[in-house]
Amino acid sequence: MSNFVLIKKEIKNFNKVISVSGDKSISIRWVLFSSLASGVSEAKNLLMSEDVIAAINLIKKLGIKVKIKKNLCKIYGEGFNGYKYKNNLTLDAKNSGTLGRLILGLLVNSTKKIKLIGDKSLSKRDFKRISSPLSKFGVKFKHKNKFGLPLEIKGIKNLKPIFYIENRGSAQCKSSIIFAGMRTQGKTIIKAKKSRNHTELFCKYLSLPLRIKSKKKFDLIEIKKVDKINPIKYRIPSDISSAAFFIVLVALSKKSSIRIKSVNINPSRTGVIKILTKMGISINFENKKIYKGEPIADICVKSPKVIKSINCPSNLNSEAIDEFLIIFLVAAKANGISYFKGLSELNKKESPRLDWAFRILKLMGIKTFKTNNSIKIIGNPKLKVKKNIVIKNFLKDHRVFMTCVIAALSFGGKWKIYDQDSIRTSFPSFLKIISDLKK
Ligand code: S3P
Repeated sequence: MSNFVLIKKEIKNFNKVISVSGDKSISIRWVLFSSLASGVSEAKNLLMSEDVIAAINLIKKLGIKVKIKKNLCKIYGEGFNGYKYKNNLTLDAKNSGTLGRLILGLLVNSTKKIKLIGDKSLSKRDFKRISSPLSKFGVKFKHKNKFGLPLEIKGIKNLKPIFYIENRGSAQCKSSIIFAGMRTQGKTIIKAKKSRNHTELFCKYLSLPLRIKSKKKFDLIEIKKVDKINPIKYRIPSDISSAAFFIVLVALSKKSSIRIKSVNINPSRTGVIKILTKMGISINFENKKIYKGEPIADICVKSPKVIKSINCPSNLNSEAIDEFLIIFLVAAKANGISYFKGLSELNKKESPRLDWAFRILKLMGIKTFKTNNSIKIIGNPKLKVKKNIVIKNFLKDHRVFMTCVIAALSFGGKWKIYDQDSIRTSFPSFLKIISDLKK
C-alpha cells in the first residue's frame, strides 16, 4: 500500500446509511477499568485501532490476560491490585495521549519502577500536567526532558488524598486523578473545568464511591477508596469524533444526506453538533436511548442551503476539541467571517493542529488570520480549489490526514496527502467508508 492518497475529484451527491467504528475514549477506558476488575469483562465493537491495541498490549505487559475473537474482546482482570510485573518495566503508549496519561493514574501505588515511552508525537506532549498532580499524592516522577516522555514513575503504598484544580478542561488529566484517588484512604476532590465525562459514567455504572456536584462552569468531583471493581459487559457505541468527518462532508455538499447509526452523543462530546447547528446545518438525533449511562442515537444530516458564519462561544471548546480542524472547513465555506478563540490546547494535540488548520486553509486559498490561540476565517461560499496541494510531515496526525481528505472531496483540486496509515490510530475503516459512499 502506498503511503499517500491522491484525490482529484469532488465526491458526487449521496444519500446513505453508515456505521463508524467504536468510540476511542470509551474503548480505552473499558480496557483500563477491566484490567482492574475482579473477573472476566467482555466488550463488543471495541475499536480495533492502534491506540486501543496499544492499551491492550500495555495491560498484557502488566500481567493481564486478554483474548480477542472476532468482534468480542475478553479481559481477565485479577482484581484491583492484580498487576504482576518485574522492576524496571517499560510500557509503550505509542501515539495515545489518553492511554499514556490515564495509565499513570492506575500505576500510582506501584512501588516497582516503570518507564513510560511513546512515539515521536506523544514524546513531545505535556506529561507535567499529569505528573504534577500525581506528585501531590506522593508519587515520584523523573522526566527525561522537562515535561514529555520518556518518564519514570515510582508509586507508593500510602497515598495521600489531594485537592486539585484542573482548569484546562482536560478529561485525560481529570481521569488520571480520579484513578489515583481510588487508592487513597481519604477523599480526593477535583475542581475540574467541564470536559468529557466517560470516566465518571463508568464509575457511576460500577457503583464506585464517586460523587459529582455539577456547577455551571466546573464540576466538583469527590472520589474515595475503591476495594473492588466488578467485571464490565459493554457494547461500545460509535465515535462522534469519527462520525464528525461525515457530518462535515454532508455539510459541505449540495444535495446529500446521511444517517450515522448508534453514535455516542454524550453532551460532553457534542460541541461539533452545537457549533454546526448554529452555522445552519440540519442535524437530528433519532432512535435515542441510554446505554450504561451513555446517550446514543442515529445522527441524521442534510446538506444546507447556506452556511452561516459563527463567532464560536469558547465554552464549547472542550466539547469539540477533537473536531475543530473539520469545523474550520465548514467555516471556510460560510457566508461571512468566523472567529474561534481560547484554543491554545489545540496546538498541544498529536500535532500543532491550530497551525496545521491555518496552513491548510491558506493552501486552499482561504483568507485566514491566526494568533497562538485563535483563528479568524473569511468564508467563501463559492470556494473551488483549482491547484495541486501536497500535505506531508504532520507528525502522522490522523485528524490532519482525514480533514485533508474531506477538504479534497468537498472543494476539489488535486491533493496528494501523505501518511495514509495514520488513520489506523483512531479510524482504520475511514477510507473504506469513503469509497462505499461513492458506489
Ligand atoms: C480524550 C480527551 C481529550 C481529547 C482526546 C481524548 C480522552 O484530550 O482531545 O482525543 O479520551 O479523555 P484532553 O483531555 O487532553 O483535552
